[in-house]
Amino acid sequence: MQTLTLPRPDDWHLHLRDGAMLQAVLPETARHFARAIVMPNLVPPVVTLDDARAYHDRIMATLPPGMAFQPLMTLYLTEGTDPADVERAAASGLVKAVKLYPAGATTNSQSGVRDLAKVMPVLETMARIGLPLCTHGEVTTPEVDIFDREAVFIDTVLDPLRRRLPELRVVMEHITTEEGVAYAAQGGENLAATITTHHLILNRNHILAGGIRPHYYCLPVAKRERHRLALRRAATSGNPCYFLGTDSAPHVDALKEAACGCAGCFTATNTLSLLAHVFEEESALDRLEGFVARHGPAFYRLPVNTATITLEKRPDPCTWPEKIVSGSGPVTVFNPGFPVHWHVVT
Ligand code: DOR
Ligand code: ZN
Repeated sequence: MQTLTLPRPDDWHLHLRDGAMLQAVLPETARHFARAIVMPNLVPPVVTLDDARAYHDRIMATLPPGMAFQPLMTLYLTEGTDPADVERAAASGLVKAVKLYPAGATTNSQSGVRDLAKVMPVLETMARIGLPLCTHGEVTTPEVDIFDREAVFIDTVLDPLRRRLPELRVVMEHITTEEGVAYAAQGGENLAATITTHHLILNRNHILAGGIRPHYYCLPVAKRERHRLALRRAATSGNPCYFLGTDSAPHVDALKEAACGCAGCFTATNTLSLLAHVFEEESALDRLEGFVARHGPAFYRLPVNTATITLEKRPDPCTWPEKIVSGSGPVTVFNPGFPVHWHVVT
């Protein structure tokens, strides 16, 4: 039997939602993860320091007794965001990043940014104080094919922005392409990229070939196989510019299995087992620790967790509930479609 003991991991991109959904999904993450960067795309979004403080307190009030978990809060960048509020938010220690959603790019992004020029004072402040910008890196122009939206964002938005503000610290969230992998690698110490668990497992055939599978649909949408392979090489490379951000994004089944289904894969429950499986397939189990527990804290200038987690490879496959129950309805747990033998034991 093989065992693997790692510093407790962190999730550098997570959707916890609010209310009944928060209550259902928070334990799924807190069971395995010490900290997470919590996305601000609630309705209404988490825009100000006061919003972030109130959301933080709701999360902590929902955490089951005996569970240790620290939510790292983010602010949702709008064209009305006040640079002084962002500076206070960073100084408070509660807020660790600001999230850029191009308006219309994804779930609850309608309050996002249409014109980057309007948020330059905020971005200049962030560059000065070293507060990271997390980017949903897709253009929303209808003429641009959905499978090209990430590469076009890099060329037309991200690269010009970083040339203009080289001191701005940027996280390319949930990269899905060879172009994203390559751009992150050449960006120096002010650039990093998160990779989700599901983008290491899925290509676009999994979503569309032989029937449409709504629980594999997320944004950015999974791409061709060569992109999935590039993501696997990046995640298992040991390069500290890549780290885990699951983008675990719960939606109730009724909103996924619909004529116009919501984007998001819910992977909090089984992410660590799946990652151990993937890293073993890539003969890189020794690099899992960097990806899930070391590279993220290094970029965010936070200590590595002292608590640990242990996984064991067992002959019997892991079993997970097919769905978790929330007060707003069932949420389907990501099903990789193959057996996984790495059990989280502590
Ligand atoms: O698939 C996604 N789901 N991508 C996002 O960017 C947002 C997320 C959500 O909030 O559901
Ligand atoms: Zn997300």
